[in-house]
Amino acid sequence: MIDLLARKALAWAIVLFAVSDRAFASDEIDYGQVEIAIAAVGEVTADLDYGEYLAGECVSCHAVDGPKQAQIPAIAGRNREALIRAMVEYRTGFRKNKVMQTVMTTKGNEEIAALAAWYAAKER
Ligand code: HEC
Repeated sequence: MIDLLARKALAWAIVLFAVSDRAFASDEIDYGQVEIAIAAVGEVTADLDYGEYLAGECVSCHAVDGPKQAQIPAIAGRNREALIRAMVEYRTGFRKNKVMQTVMTTKGNEEIAALAAWYAAKER
């Protein structure tokens, strides 16, 4: 019985350590690394058709003709560099928002470049 409790306590200690370690790591993001990642996206030649295809995932929240909810910012017609910066900040975890961090975990440099170019070219 005591052995079981001790094992449970140990398991919890490991879980808590892992969680706190992650939280600590994401608070310690060096913006220099974020700048390097942003510059790398800027090097990519953007494919507008690919951007339009990928934007299919975004419209449910960021409708092209304006966001559907007040908490969701409009992104159509925004400056391309600012869009790249925001997306990379979410991907690196520098900018914290559970939804957008999750959306950006599946986006590589080509995807971010294509999305930024397509949204920047859209009318507001
Ligand atoms: C489930 C809803 C949802 C989806 C899907 C979604 N977003 Fe977002 N997005 C948000 C919310 C909410 C915010 C504001 C987050 C914050 O406060 O930082 C946001 C913020 C952003 C911003 C920053 C805007 C600013 O003014 O700072 C960009 C850029 C962006 N999203 C791009 C995208 C792209 C590109 C996609 C598709 C690949 C996408 N989002 C999909 C909800 C969503």
